[in-house]
Amino acid sequence: MNPIIDIEQLTKRYVDGHLALDNVSIRIYPGEIIALLGPNGAGKTTLISIICGLTTKSQGSVLVDNFDVVRDYRAARSIIGLVPQELTLEPFETVLGTVSLSRGLFGKRMDPEYIESVLRRLSMWDKRDAQIRELSGGMKRRVLIAKALSHEPKILFLDEPTAGVDVDMRKETWKVIRDLKQQGVTIVLTTHYIEEAEEIADRIAIIDSGNILLVEGKDKLMRRLGTKKIFIELEETISELPTNLNAFDIKIESGGRNLIYAYDAELDKAGVTSVLRNILTSGISIKDIRTYQSSLEDIFVKLIQKGKGS
Ligand SMILES: Nc1ncnc2c1ncn2[C@@H]1O[C@H](COP(=O)(O)OP(=O)(O)O)[C@@H](O)[C@H]1O
Ligand SMILES: [Mg+2]
Repeated sequence: MNPIIDIEQLTKRYVDGHLALDNVSIRIYPGEIIALLGPNGAGKTTLISIICGLTTKSQGSVLVDNFDVVRDYRAARSIIGLVPQELTLEPFETVLGTVSLSRGLFGKRMDPEYIESVLRRLSMWDKRDAQIRELSGGMKRRVLIAKALSHEPKILFLDEPTAGVDVDMRKETWKVIRDLKQQGVTIVLTTHYIEEAEEIADRIAIIDSGNILLVEGKDKLMRRLGTKKIFIELEETISELPTNLNAFDIKIESGGRNLIYAYDAELDKAGVTSVLRNILTSGISIKDIRTYQSSLEDIFVKLIQKGKGS
């Protein structure tokens, strides 16, 4: 499949010399939800601002649906909807007015039925005549989404869509995003919440200090880097491992009371059985067993630490 966004060797150095993006290449495919996951200052907003034509790049190329975002700015931009992180709305404008005006700004012919369908989809149709200033924070955010959808974009960017949002609103936003995917919209969102990436992304790009550290399907990522650990509590303490366990990655902890066996959940299925059997045949009694599956959070923290050279 051809990418809908194709970014090659993109570099951004701000005028103060700060290198915000360092030779970033990434392809985004039609219909997917991709999360750019990274800590504050990683370069997420810079990256999407360049794709949306709001920030200039220093080097590299960005194509959106084969349009160059610099050379063919208008064509590229018309395919894109952007939900910015900050609430940037006119307080005295109405909901319907805000969203309709936004469509007009893209030079699209008025289409009240389409605007109605967008507002209904976001449960904002009943609020169409309300002024922005009357709305709750969550509703304002939905107006921003409606605004971004007003010109029927193929790609929707959401910059930290649930930062500072309560749990219910977060879940609602995720539902809206999933619905949009169902309708064929490609979704690019930035987040520093691991939970959010884990919850809704098809693919996750981990970004830190202007570098993309990894791009991978979420499920594959969880499997590939997902190590499992098994904690084996013993009836009695031991001071060293029985020799029949030397071949396994086992540590003795808690003063000889616990054994911890780390293994690859995909590859070492037989390992667990062998480890348990070998413990028992060497005459050690087991009191309790617990397993632990590493989460995306562990993977994330590990990658970011490695990037920082620690
Ligand atoms: N206009 C700017 N001038 C100089 N540095 C900037 C500017 N905007 C952002 N930065 C810096 O670039 C880095 C990446 O910022 P940003 O893209 O906003 O990160 P994120 O969205 O991941 O939090 C940060 O170190 C930030 O301080
Ligand atoms: Mg940001």
